Amino acid sequence: MIHATPTAPAPLHLAGNGRPRQLRCRVLQSPLAGVSDRIFRGLVRRWAPDALLFTEMVNATSLELGHGLIKVEELASEPGPIGVQLFDHRPAAMADAARRAEAAGAFLIDINMGCPVKKITGKGGGSGLIREPELAVRIVEAVAAAVAIPVTVKTRLGWCGLEPGADRQRAAVDWCLQLQGAGAQLLTLHGRSREQGFKGPADWGAIAAVKRALRIPVVANGDVNSPTDALACLAATGADGVMVGRGTMGAPWLVGQIDAALSGRPVPDTPGALERIALAAEQLRALVEARGDHGLLIARKHMGWTCTGFTGAPQLRHALMRAPTPAAALALLETAASQLG
Ligand SMILES: Cc1cc2nc3c(=O)[nH]c(=O)nc-3n(C[C@H](O)[C@H](O)[C@H](O)COP(=O)(O)O)c2cc1C
Repeated sequence: MIHATPTAPAPLHLAGNGRPRQLRCRVLQSPLAGVSDRIFRGLVRRWAPDALLFTEMVNATSLELGHGLIKVEELASEPGPIGVQLFDHRPAAMADAARRAEAAGAFLIDINMGCPVKKITGKGGGSGLIREPELAVRIVEAVAAAVAIPVTVKTRLGWCGLEPGADRQRAAVDWCLQLQGAGAQLLTLHGRSREQGFKGPADWGAIAAVKRALRIPVVANGDVNSPTDALACLAATGADGVMVGRGTMGAPWLVGQIDAALSGRPVPDTPGALERIALAAEQLRALVEARGDHGLLIARKHMGWTCTGFTGAPQLRHALMRAPTPAAALALLETAASQLG
């Protein structure tokens, strides 16, 4: 068990446009497409009752047409704060989707200006907006005018890969100042450019430069995979919080562990083999109940991430990836647990 020294930080206040919000926890769970669904969030919430969690990114146009509803329905029934992350390049569609998400119970609206996927940037959405700052500003303004809850933006340092240093920092600061000026009330900054994708280390120095230049809260993102990383990232960037993405895949306890470390509480132990297997089985059952047979396909990747770090884990993962039915996968998990127990 890791013991940390800090004391609980003061809540962050986000004024909104009539419906202010408070963030009581300085670690946020990343929006993760294909991962951060309702069931995953439920597991994260078990360890992190106060943390801001996010939906997967939701296409504003599909929400307008009624297709993306699965990602925002029942939000109001989930405990704790859940932000809805939207992406699109059309201000009116974003404003309309934001209204719907607010009505569904969103704690706040986050605008995706970081996604590097060509299908999305090609139409001008996600990180494509970094190349279209005027359009980005209009989108933030339209969304902020449409809802009473706060509007935040998640973005990257820039479009192309300037070397770490003064130029890169200046470009990132210029970009983020425009978002602040448009009405974003908090900014999450992934310390890589769009061109880098996920390659190379996240540039926490550039995040620090943005933090110094902005008056709104800045959340640092990139390469935080443990409580120790989170403390180091906050020290290096001076940011108001950290957001954790890939490190939580198969580790829904990580956000809670980081929250404890940042608040000076004892850090909960990382679950052992039997607990991991039980979590994998629980997630599989819930996914199949919610999504039918397709739930098995979604559960496979989660099971692959969760079932690690114990004797026989590689063989179990191999078998789980080939299990033809949910019942067969559950039987494999039960056998593995009985062999360990
Ligand atoms: C599988 C996967 C899905 C992601 N989906 C989203 C998304 O929907 N919206 C978003 O803003 N970022 C998304 N990201 C980026 C992460 O939120 C995060 O910014 C990035 O992984 C860097 O943080 P990390 O080093 O903690 O993973 C995704 C990343 C991965 C690996």
